[in-house]
Amino acid sequence: GGLNAKDALGNDVVVSEFLAEHSPGDRTLTQGFKGDPTYVVVTDSNEIADYGLNAVCTHLGCVVPWNAGQNKYICPCHGSQYDSTGKVVRGPAPLSLALVHAEDVDGKLVFTTW
Ligand code: FES
Repeated sequence: GGLNAKDALGNDVVVSEFLAEHSPGDRTLTQGFKGDPTYVVVTDSNEIADYGLNAVCTHLGCVVPWNAGQNKYICPCHGSQYDSTGKVVRGPAPLSLALVHAEDVDGKLVFTTW
């Protein structure tokens, strides 16, 4: 089943408000399944991408920040790197970041399992 994405304050993410407050290329943490920090991506055409990325490093679980300058997610704990789509490009992380489907359902952002 679907899960309403939550913002930092625990409120449902309203797509129109979210897009008004963000720019193409932005990657913003929301709360996804099990409360996992989950990136929502704004596309070049100013829409919410149809996928979200679970920000929990697949090595030992640190939250992985986005590094816009390097166009990668770079884990501060042991240096794992993931490309812009979450694919692991440097270990020790064994796996890519987990994805979820992201869609607009009646104006709210809803995640479903990938
Ligand atoms: Fe991310 Fe170890 S927890 S590299």
